[in-house]
Amino acid sequence: MSLRTTPSVDYVEDVSPGSGVLPPRAWYASSDARSLSLNGRWRFRLSATAGAEDDSFAEEGHDAGTWAEVTVPGHWVLQGDGAFGSPIYTSHLYPFPVDPPYVPTENPTGDHLRVFDLPSDWPSDGGAVLRFDGVESCARVWLNGTELGEFKGSRLAHEFAVGELLKPGRNVLAVRVHQWSAGSYLEDQDQWWLPGIFRDVTLLHRPAGGVGDFFVHASYDHTTGEGTLRVDSDVAGRVTVPALDIDVATGEPVTVAVEPWTAETPRLYDGVLATDGERVPLRIGFRTVALEDGLIKVNGKAILFRGVNRHEWHPEKGRALDLETMREDVLLMKRHNLNAVRTSHYPPHPAFLDLCDEYGLWVIDECDLETHGFTEQDWRDNPVDDDRWTPALLDRAARMVERDKNHPSIVFWSLGNEAGTGRGLTAMAEWIHGRDPERLVHYEGDWNCRDTDVYSRMYAFHDEVEKIGRQLDGGTRKRRELPFIQCEYAHAMGNGPGGLADYQELFETYDRLQGGFVWEWIDHGVRHAELGYAYGGDFGEELHDGNFVCDGLVFPDRTPSPGLIEYKKVIEPVRIEGDGADGTVHVTNKQDFADLSALAFEWSCQVDGETVESGSLAVPALAPGESAEVKLPEPPADGRGGERQWTVRALLADDTSWAAKGHVVAWGQFAVGARPLPSFPATDRPVPEGNRITLGPARFDARTGALLSIGGVEVGATPRLDVWRATTDNDDGAEWQTDTRFGVLWRTLGLHRMRHRLVSVEAGDDALTVHTRVAPAAREAGLDTVYRWTSDGERLRLRVSVTPEGDWTVPLPRLGVRFGLPQADVVEWFGGGPGEAYPDTATASMVGRWRSTVDGLQTPYVRPQENGARADVRWVELGGLRVEGEPEFWFTARRWTTEQLDAARHRTDLTAGDTVWVNLDHGLHGIGSQSCGPGPLPQYFLKAEPAEFSFVFSTTR
Ligand code: GAL
Repeated sequence: MSLRTTPSVDYVEDVSPGSGVLPPRAWYASSDARSLSLNGRWRFRLSATAGAEDDSFAEEGHDAGTWAEVTVPGHWVLQGDGAFGSPIYTSHLYPFPVDPPYVPTENPTGDHLRVFDLPSDWPSDGGAVLRFDGVESCARVWLNGTELGEFKGSRLAHEFAVGELLKPGRNVLAVRVHQWSAGSYLEDQDQWWLPGIFRDVTLLHRPAGGVGDFFVHASYDHTTGEGTLRVDSDVAGRVTVPALDIDVATGEPVTVAVEPWTAETPRLYDGVLATDGERVPLRIGFRTVALEDGLIKVNGKAILFRGVNRHEWHPEKGRALDLETMREDVLLMKRHNLNAVRTSHYPPHPAFLDLCDEYGLWVIDECDLETHGFTEQDWRDNPVDDDRWTPALLDRAARMVERDKNHPSIVFWSLGNEAGTGRGLTAMAEWIHGRDPERLVHYEGDWNCRDTDVYSRMYAFHDEVEKIGRQLDGGTRKRRELPFIQCEYAHAMGNGPGGLADYQELFETYDRLQGGFVWEWIDHGVRHAELGYAYGGDFGEELHDGNFVCDGLVFPDRTPSPGLIEYKKVIEPVRIEGDGADGTVHVTNKQDFADLSALAFEWSCQVDGETVESGSLAVPALAPGESAEVKLPEPPADGRGGERQWTVRALLADDTSWAAKGHVVAWGQFAVGARPLPSFPATDRPVPEGNRITLGPARFDARTGALLSIGGVEVGATPRLDVWRATTDNDDGAEWQTDTRFGVLWRTLGLHRMRHRLVSVEAGDDALTVHTRVAPAAREAGLDTVYRWTSDGERLRLRVSVTPEGDWTVPLPRLGVRFGLPQADVVEWFGGGPGEAYPDTATASMVGRWRSTVDGLQTPYVRPQENGARADVRWVELGGLRVEGEPEFWFTARRWTTEQLDAARHRTDLTAGDTVWVNLDHGLHGIGSQSCGPGPLPQYFLKAEPAEFSFVFSTTR
């Protein structure tokens, strides 16, 4: 009798990268060698531990007929409706004891089985390799019962030679995937833990004499306008580039006149690498990346990153992205003026890099490495400072560089993210510098810049960034000589980020500051039947970091958030400024390489927000950095006595690969004169009648002074002072922040539960005056508030005077009035729009006439919070009322109260009530990005100080 023993699972906790795999090489698609995708439905069996099942499932003839199925590429926890476990979200804590290299005995293990037929015309010559583009976190592989080996390095390609094992007809591929492994210690990125075979699995024929590995070197000499091409190839062959008349042997350099590749002008030349046995298409971009004069230069020019950090994310498929989703990311980025991506925090699917080459984005390609959880123990036992792990680190570096080295878009290799410092990182940097001296090395974790070619930081505050820009930041000699980037800044969690424009101004002022990468591209919300989008904790995780995983510029479904609209405006490649009074426009080309010939300019003139005339504006095709003054036509006659302004837009002159002709790239607005304020003679006097007071068109409660109706419009809740907002993620701030977190202070103070004490109601000669004091329980400080109502017979004017009393040490969340209307759906306004804006997120707010529904005003932040304010509103109409402001105001309307918004955890917690709640605000506190960065800058504080503001109400029915 033979006893089958449990297979050894020692490899799972082995720090080595794996065994049996082929050395890394360039990732390419052959023109003529066959390949077979093994994506699709696979048989699947889940076990609770790594060694629960023996490996007999890998044997030929094993009957997996009763097994479940999953889709590959995919994560098993996102399939099977919860039957296969759930995602776990932690930001930096390891969701298992820090006991390297050991992992829990409870180690979800997915056995995957795929039976495939080798096509009958599969060539019999040469060999074949089986390629896995991404498996989290450790895989052991068998083909037709023979073990091939095992590997770690989730977001890196691994290949096995399988030529000998392939059989005509039926073949059985078995893959055992462990969720946890020693590799997990190196993959502590801030994201969901999602096991599975999440990228393609492909069988590739390798013809005799076929291409092996190759390295395209294509540089550009900006002084001569010539490019030099040399393709080093393991297997000798010829390189042809028809458009350049190039036909050379591999390894031979050739220099010809070329158009260079840049992110702004992504000129690619199609070529072919041909060996005896194979032809491989090349897409060649000529460009030279260098560190020169303390600056990052491409083709001799310093560049400015207008970047974003991109995790791979799809709300249903997790990190298993299809090509269309990747293309959508790139198109959205281009359409929003972004020019750079950091592939945080691992090499992306290779197809994404093809898209960056094609459409034009600078790329920081980051290695699949983060050991952030070791910070909890002061970085003791950090794998990057422990020689036993160095082979794994070097393997990861090599797998990134070798796979991706032929992409012109990549200008930096990044060693990883938040892994502390150590010898292992130095070894990686040395290896990378040696293997690819034509690119630069990035790593943020070492502020001494021992191994890097750039001083990189994350979330540095504006004042520090300015200091760095002025070279006043000190640091090591090496660091002082390096350019500076923010590899992460402007944390886009929830409402925000605020302060983008202030950062951009610094980046554009100081040469040493070469831009940054907003954190991050997309909210990682998981589509969920009851919750809409789930975030950390929604799957019952014992440790989690809540909605910190939803901090992107686009919502989980890739709808742009206001943050992206703001960023687009802040980083626009053309600056359009003007002086409306003297009718000149000042246009500056902010690009690094392209002139303005791709753009057409248009002017229009608005009276009270309505366009009355427009035309095209001739702007010279300015070279990068150049400016010009352009004269506008005479403004149209001011017949209506209204507010006049100019709007000048820069549009795409022709269709491009990423947007159609007419797409707006940049714009500017400037007033012709000051806004005429509404005139309002107070002619009527309040008339008391029993328990009512009538004033012009309005009726009030005589006892409380509450407004009941205006004309035929019932007012459900009278306008009252309101200072509270449902705190944003940035108001609440991250717990570790040492600066004051106002969201926390506000709540401690009780600003969310203000009480209103009626002092007096006085019907005077020409006004109804209601005097109150507004303050929270348990506190002495309060706001003395006087509402003064007057009427000109048809309209009603409210003047609010607020005087803080006592010790106000904090700014206010908002200052204005809130009232309720029983009905309102369509909203029209003249002011900033179309989207939301707050004091430090208002660059993209365009003054005009806008229309929306109340529902359409809401911004769907995954975790509900203050949202939807419109800036600089002159007047708004909704629910039969028109409200005009003196001065302009902030306007918000929603079908739930601020308190309900504040209490909601998910959007599905919010249900429309029978009142539309309207906030008319004189002021709002800034947003900042304290959820992981600075709070609002002081100039965006809403200080508690005496204030007076008015609204004029009339009916529209
Ligand atoms: C950084 C980190 C990112 C992310 C971000 C906060 O420290 O590199 O991965 O965690 O903070 O969202």
